[in-house]
Amino acid sequence: MPSDKQRGATQRKATSRRSFLRNSTAATAAAVSLASLDVSRFAHAAGSDIIKVGLIGCGGRGTGAAAQSVRAAPNMRLYAMADLFRDKLDRSLATLRKTVPDKVEVSEDRCFTGFDAYKHVIECCDVVLLCTPPHFRPEHLRAAVEAKKHIFAEKPVAVDAPGVRSVWESCQKAKEYGIAVVSGLCWRYHYGVRETMKRVLDGEFGDIIALQTNYVVGYLWSVPRKPGWSDMEWQCRNWLYFQWLSGDHIVEQHIHSLDKMAWAMGDTYPVKAWGLGGRQVRVEPIYGNIYDHHAVVFEFANGVRCFSYCRQISGCYNDVSDHIFCTKGHVDVLKHRATYKGKTVWRYRGKSNNMYQTEHDEMMQSIFDGKPINNGEYMTKSTMMAIMGRMATYTGQVVTWEQAWNSKQRLGPDKYEWGPVEIQPVAKPGRTPLV
Ligand SMILES: NC(=O)c1ccc[n+]([C@@H]2O[C@H](COP(=O)([O-])OP(=O)(O)OC[C@H]3O[C@@H](n4cnc5c(N)ncnc54)[C@H](O)[C@@H]3O)[C@@H](O)[C@H]2O)c1
Repeated sequence: MPSDKQRGATQRKATSRRSFLRNSTAATAAAVSLASLDVSRFAHAAGSDIIKVGLIGCGGRGTGAAAQSVRAAPNMRLYAMADLFRDKLDRSLATLRKTVPDKVEVSEDRCFTGFDAYKHVIECCDVVLLCTPPHFRPEHLRAAVEAKKHIFAEKPVAVDAPGVRSVWESCQKAKEYGIAVVSGLCWRYHYGVRETMKRVLDGEFGDIIALQTNYVVGYLWSVPRKPGWSDMEWQCRNWLYFQWLSGDHIVEQHIHSLDKMAWAMGDTYPVKAWGLGGRQVRVEPIYGNIYDHHAVVFEFANGVRCFSYCRQISGCYNDVSDHIFCTKGHVDVLKHRATYKGKTVWRYRGKSNNMYQTEHDEMMQSIFDGKPINNGEYMTKSTMMAIMGRMATYTGQVVTWEQAWNSKQRLGPDKYEWGPVEIQPVAKPGRTPLV
């Protein structure tokens, strides 16, 4: 992790909370530039001078994002936290008290639990970090936008098309309100990947002929059911494996790969997809109702195809890589390198960065500059692309972008309460209908 000293630009351009809030509305944003303020005035800011950060979803990623957020400017403090479970919140708080000790001002009355906990955090903070499982993101995002709070939203932002459409609307509103929406699709903030994509988009390697992306890895963590846990508690604690909570790993994990492919295509999205997938090895009840592998062919309007593979099965060949095949070179995105006829024709030699930190540094800088970032467009459409891939593998049908976008299928129970939650059957291609 870079030290506070190294954290450069944003640190040097700190601002007071009052100015920050003033700068947060579209009406005044352009007029107030705080970039010239002296950091030393705010380096030990306290009381009303702090920018209050709220964490919603205090797991592994949320805990990391909270530390990165408060490091983005000297006067930022973690102020409130929300989680379904008190043990999760406590563990996260204890970690943060160790990793960013001077930046945590979370009092007991600002620790909230349960399904409505997010509302309290949104109410009392200036910046909110949405880091729950993706099922809840559309609801949390809408509430944060309505309250005009700046938002960091982890990927993916939904698990179904109604959720995608809701996030799309929220992001449009965020633009009107002049609030930031920064996406956790972190590779968009990686210097080496950015430079690689810039060169692809500038046509340095010729025209794109085809794309291939792989996210083939082993098992992730799982949580065995404990006596006394309701269906709801167990599913929420073991959320990766339930379609309604994670969207399946093609949505939850492979979205990183698919987003890069859409980025390479100039932020255009496929017109149709077909695919195959299944649940062959990871079949025990602890693995809920998701697949363990998917292979999807996405076709873009200009005829370019993206061949995508994701698998979560241990003991196999692993590979996380993205490839862009162009007329004048093969681009290996994560190696930031292009080769032609076996010879390297370009390699990134610039600065390296911690993309997770850069997300927050650039987010805060954009707010201070009165030009809040809004990543709404790609974070929503890339989520849709991943859901479209899942629809294709679950049904075995060709799925068009319009069918996917307009799908009425909503995943999950109608009400969030501690009790029974029916587990939908595992999808069967050729039998599971496209809804
Ligand atoms: N950008 C990345 O590289 C990256 C890496 C890991 C995870 N993620 C994303 O971050 C999100 C969280 O993943 P994680 O690995 O931290 O999972 P996690 O299980 O460690 O944390 C999720 C937390 O959210 C809590 N939670 C669940 N429902 C909630 C609700 N309705 N209200 C409040 N809290 C709730 C859980 O109890 C848990 O503590 C996911 O969307 C995941 O895809 C992104």
